[in-house]
Amino acid sequence: MTRDISEYKQQFTENLKEIKADKGHLLHDDVERLRVAWLGRKGILPELFSQLKTVAREDKASMGKELNLLKVFCEQQIKELQERARQQQIRHLLSHSSIDVTLPVADQHRVGSLHPVSLINHKLQSIFRRLGYHVFDGPEVEVDYYNFRALNIHENHPARDMQDTFYLKDRLSDETKDATNATKWVMRTQTSNVQIHVMENFRPPFTVVAPGKVFRVDSDPTHTPIFHQIEGLHVDKNVSLADLKGTIQVFLSELLGYHVAMRLRPSYFPFVEPGLEIDIALPSKEDEQLSWLEVGGCGMVHPHVFEMVGVDSEEYMGFAFGFGIDRLAMIHFNLHDLRHFFSGDVQWLSQFPSFLGTPGSGLSSVCHRN
Ligand code: DAH
Repeated sequence: MTRDISEYKQQFTENLKEIKADKGHLLHDDVERLRVAWLGRKGILPELFSQLKTVAREDKASMGKELNLLKVFCEQQIKELQERARQQQIRHLLSHSSIDVTLPVADQHRVGSLHPVSLINHKLQSIFRRLGYHVFDGPEVEVDYYNFRALNIHENHPARDMQDTFYLKDRLSDETKDATNATKWVMRTQTSNVQIHVMENFRPPFTVVAPGKVFRVDSDPTHTPIFHQIEGLHVDKNVSLADLKGTIQVFLSELLGYHVAMRLRPSYFPFVEPGLEIDIALPSKEDEQLSWLEVGGCGMVHPHVFEMVGVDSEEYMGFAFGFGIDRLAMIHFNLHDLRHFFSGDVQWLSQFPSFLGTPGSGLSSVCHRN
């Protein structure tokens, strides 16, 4: 060993100082050079350790100890420097790099679009708002009473056959069991349930629409187990079938953008009397002649329904209507297969615009509470 070990320590300390003083900030590369020079395979310390074998026997142990202490010292100092260099680099990057928010977005076409059913739903709401309707929401998991009985559809009423129902077994509770202990919870089969909630919670006059999902045990090319309806209810002191017809005419013409030819056909829905089906005329594909397509049902609110919710049917009268939103969307966009709506095929969905008019400001609750 040519020099005293303390001299090596001094040399290392000077090297350290040089690095720290240089340029006012530490560079990772400089620290790495120092590490390689002292601790690297061919560095100063391995070289000193290899020289131990030439040292006289009696000095070996103390020299070895001193060398080890020097090694630990060098390692600690370098580790500390590495950490400081890393911190300085982060600070430097943070203060010198910035994001240019004015740069163009890489792929501006991928902004997404609304589902056609949502587009039409928004459009329906905006039309009805302009006609003075409030928009309401209602439960999809429903007590049998609101979905059926309060709407004049009793336990064994044949009208239940038209609406194959999903019954929920697990939601039995004492208040919702009837005399036969049958399950009283269903997935709502129609948005007409909202009529009852509105009339129970507010006092007339009512002018409301309630769009939403409905559920039936049904699946074929033109039926899906989940679909969408919009329900309407207008109750006041002097309401006639002519008001109903006028409202539907204006609504359909606003939706489709031309004066729609429509007809009301007598039909049966237990919660209205008279009950009517709404057909609109569409040019048929084959012979350019008009064909009639059913788009919803309507009628004058049945006095039994008023009785169930405590509205005086001598004083008030009203009309109700219900449209299938999916079917209106198919007509509006000239589509033929309902199943596309539920396929989740992003490419098919991306053909629709992202906006079709003002959706309004959410659900309103501006009716007068009881
Ligand atoms: N809820 C009925 C159905 O799903 C549609 C309907 C018919 C709604 C007549 C109404 C109405 O409000 O008056 O088939």
